[in-house]
Amino acid sequence: MITCGQQDRVSDVGCNTGDLSKALYTYLKTVYPYCDIHMLAVDIDSTLIERAKEANENPYIKFMTCNIMEQNDQLLIQITMWIHLNNGDAGLLAFLKYLKAIVIEPQPWKCYRNAQRRVKKSGNSFELYECLKIKSDVDLAFWAAD
Ligand SMILES: C[S@@+](CC[C@H](N)C(=O)[O-])C[C@H]1O[C@@H](n2cnc3c(N)ncnc32)[C@H](O)[C@@H]1O
Repeated sequence: MITCGQQDRVSDVGCNTGDLSKALYTYLKTVYPYCDIHMLAVDIDSTLIERAKEANENPYIKFMTCNIMEQNDQLLIQITMWIHLNNGDAGLLAFLKYLKAIVIEPQPWKCYRNAQRRVKKSGNSFELYECLKIKSDVDLAFWAAD
């Protein structure tokens, strides 16, 4: 929830090409028309960020390349699985520990399995995949990570 201040800052982490960021901004402006909302949308992939910037006409949304594992931010949709696969259980818990407010869309274990299969097809692999012990209830891990 946004409390109308001088400037309300919203972050979208793992924004991809920014479609959802723009939709979210529009939604928030509808719900909080008098708030001065500024959104920072970030993604680890600089190619996606370039595309997002090119397609962005809203001066209140800024797109930036950033690895959230080196930052601390507030809105996550469909991203915990990638953080988990790349950084293991400890990385996921460390990341969740720093969040104050969060909207997440945790992904079921079958998505992890599919991601590993896809990556293996291209000759790579998520090395930590076999070591992951948290296989469900990633959202519950958030509450345990304090
Ligand atoms: C499934 S997409 C989610 C896109 C968008 N949020 C949505 O729901 O439509 C996950 C995104 O997270 C990004 N991502 C993965 N690890 C990241 C990290 N450590 N820091 C920032 N972004 C990351 C990926 O590049 C990808 O664009």
